[in-house]
Amino acid sequence: MRILPAVGIWILLSYAGTAQTLDTQNSPRQRLSFDDGWKFHMGDDPGASTPAFNDKTWRSLDLPHDWSIEGDFSQNNSTGQQEAGLPAGVGWYRKTFRLATFTAAASGKQAFAGKAVRGISTFSDKVYIDFDGVYRNSEVYINGHLLGRRPYGYISFRYDLTPWLKKGADNVLAVRVDNSTQPNSRWYTGTGIYRHVWLETLPAAPVAIDHWGTFITTGDVTGQQVRLRIATTLRAAQPGQTCTLQHVLIDSNGNRVTSLSLPYTAKDTLSTVQQDLLFPNARRWSPEHPYLYTVETSLLIGNRVVDRYTTRTGIRTFQFDLRQGFLLNGRHLKIKGVCLHHDLGALGAAVNTSAMRRQLQILKDMGCNAIRTAHNPPAPEFLDLCDEMGFLVMDEAFDMWQKKKNKYDYSLSFPQWHRQDLEDMIRRDRNHPSVFIWSIGNEIHEQFDKSGISLAKELTHIIKSLDPTRPVTSAMTEADTLENNIYQADALDVMGLNYNQQVYDSVQRKYPGLPFLATETTSAEATRGHYDMPSDSIRHWPASAKVPAVGVNHDYTISAYDNVSPYWGSTHEETWRIVKRDPFVAGLFVWSGFDYLGEPTPYRWPARSSYFGIVDLAGFPKDSYYLYQSEWSQKPVLHLFPHWNWRPGQMIDVWAYYSQASEVELFLNGQSLGVRRKEGDDLHVQWRVPFEPGVLKAVSRIHGKTVLEDEIHTAGAPARIQFMADRQMIHADGCDLAFVGIRITDADGNLVPNADNELSIKITGEGTLAAMDNGYQADLESFRGTQHKAFNGLCLAIVRSKKKAGKITLHVSGAGLSPATLDIDSQ
Ligand code: GAL
Repeated sequence: MRILPAVGIWILLSYAGTAQTLDTQNSPRQRLSFDDGWKFHMGDDPGASTPAFNDKTWRSLDLPHDWSIEGDFSQNNSTGQQEAGLPAGVGWYRKTFRLATFTAAASGKQAFAGKAVRGISTFSDKVYIDFDGVYRNSEVYINGHLLGRRPYGYISFRYDLTPWLKKGADNVLAVRVDNSTQPNSRWYTGTGIYRHVWLETLPAAPVAIDHWGTFITTGDVTGQQVRLRIATTLRAAQPGQTCTLQHVLIDSNGNRVTSLSLPYTAKDTLSTVQQDLLFPNARRWSPEHPYLYTVETSLLIGNRVVDRYTTRTGIRTFQFDLRQGFLLNGRHLKIKGVCLHHDLGALGAAVNTSAMRRQLQILKDMGCNAIRTAHNPPAPEFLDLCDEMGFLVMDEAFDMWQKKKNKYDYSLSFPQWHRQDLEDMIRRDRNHPSVFIWSIGNEIHEQFDKSGISLAKELTHIIKSLDPTRPVTSAMTEADTLENNIYQADALDVMGLNYNQQVYDSVQRKYPGLPFLATETTSAEATRGHYDMPSDSIRHWPASAKVPAVGVNHDYTISAYDNVSPYWGSTHEETWRIVKRDPFVAGLFVWSGFDYLGEPTPYRWPARSSYFGIVDLAGFPKDSYYLYQSEWSQKPVLHLFPHWNWRPGQMIDVWAYYSQASEVELFLNGQSLGVRRKEGDDLHVQWRVPFEPGVLKAVSRIHGKTVLEDEIHTAGAPARIQFMADRQMIHADGCDLAFVGIRITDADGNLVPNADNELSIKITGEGTLAAMDNGYQADLESFRGTQHKAFNGLCLAIVRSKKKAGKITLHVSGAGLSPATLDIDSQ
């Protein structure tokens, strides 16, 4: 189904909502965190599903949990280098709980949305268990009864526990996770119950709001007046059930804006009610001002509230346009996006909101305004953060359909599960204002096969039946329309092409009537802080499908001068130059925002993580970060590189990225080396300088006035430790994190650019060491040790709070370095 009119402009209506959150204060519906107090065993045990099974010797832990990241890197692990060589296998989780005990313990606890929760009152309550994601092939048992199996590792799912629960006695939830069939992914997946688990309860009532049961979009917008369209899906015990359905719109300060109340008679046991809420002076959601509203939906029988459900909402309109690319709230906006896999570097796949927020903040500061969730549905909290922080999101369903990319991948489950998985993804995510486009798949092999036509139609149809308001695309590689069966299906609203930038010129002719989005670009490769001369010769590693990378570095590094990419990719500058130039290109998603575990193109073992990130695995920006910042952000930028520790007389290429200035002058030890200006479509300026030790300084100017200065000093021997903590006050909730960058400097505080000192870490007080990393792609040290080498002068310690408030002190030492401490306040 194609809903784009022939003129090529498609007005999309705005949206609302996050993963539905609940007002637990006054709501009969309660949502409780079910993360704490699990038992875990790595390995299989057929008896583990039975309640009587003895799990006393099993390890105790709290979720989310990824057991792969706890293991050692090894070539012998069945996952292979593409999945970072970390262990997978089979594991079991068990949780024993008494309903009364459990809810009593949860009462008054900050279990959800910062509000107190109430216990389950009567045993006729409905009790559901919600898994946000389990990698993979989960089997869930309650009291020995199999609730279901769920193969896809990135999907959220729920089971009804009610019929199987025992009152006043122990209940045992057991989960078998099977990630043993390998390989099943092209990147690191993690293994285990790696996202949150929730228990949701609802008092027995003749009518209730269905799971993911609201869908809120913006109807017509006249000036500042907005029509919110609210569809509510209700489950009634019987047709004919009467109730009152009430919606209250609340602004971001908690003030009631308007409300609507209507009597309703259920036509069926499952029915959807459409209601409109008109309100003036609506504030818009945008990446710059991510303003959010909340709709509180109540179901009443007589005067009794039998259910209450809150949905977060953002008001925005957007349209893709054949000539202008993309407009948000009526104004042109270039989509400046990056692709992200779900791993959180040294923390693995285990969901952590502080870690995701940090990643997004680093990207926000770069000027990035969009994320593509490569190549699967993300954690719900990730979309909440995108709503709050202001990112547009391309939400992607699959990396493969029926045709496999790896022997044991999701293609095996696709025939049986794709409908359910796709429906669940859309229902779960369709209220997020950040989500603006759905992708039915990445580089799907059915592009090249006739079966791609019917599958693309089917998947698009599934999406449109649940969300007719957002466009559907697919991230394709086949630029030739006759060869591309997904294109031939005539089902997509937006043409999505990965790489292939040589065809951008002919896009309007090749794909008439379809707006164009560069769904994936670039794949430039770099190691932070490593520089190979000359900087201006472009290298392709690998050079072609047949020729492996030649002339690569023996130490598994890649130059950070933005001059290396695989044959299918390009440099950051090459791609951005074209996307910037062509207004009809709605925007791009650079591969990739961060380095991720796995896929260490172009190297073999011991390389184990990717080189494609603009930011390294530890979260330290590579130099190209400042290229984007100079082009994408509103702040003035001057970034000078490389470091200034070379052999005397060696010819060094010095680059500067700058913005909001007309020229940059370079000085070496006070002597001017000349003024450079970006000409034409230049994105940086460059000097070639014979090295002499001292101070390299750049000054950017406009109209003769200095805008910024940047200096690099030749560093002496490693002597001191400096800290760069993202936060020095964290929450004492047992999961909040402080990311502490550790710089190795000389006695004068200059970064030692090649320092690789072994650092020892000790934490005292109310915190623990969650992980360490240095961003080097071929480092095989465990992330979990208390010792870690620095790489190119930097190391990262991730500190986790305990559930007790107090001071946390990080002690860092290393041979030849003055020991240093950092205090973090946990409140
Ligand atoms: C793309 C693919 C990504 C990643 C990237 C590396 O073709 O969609 O998942 O593999 O190549 O360059």
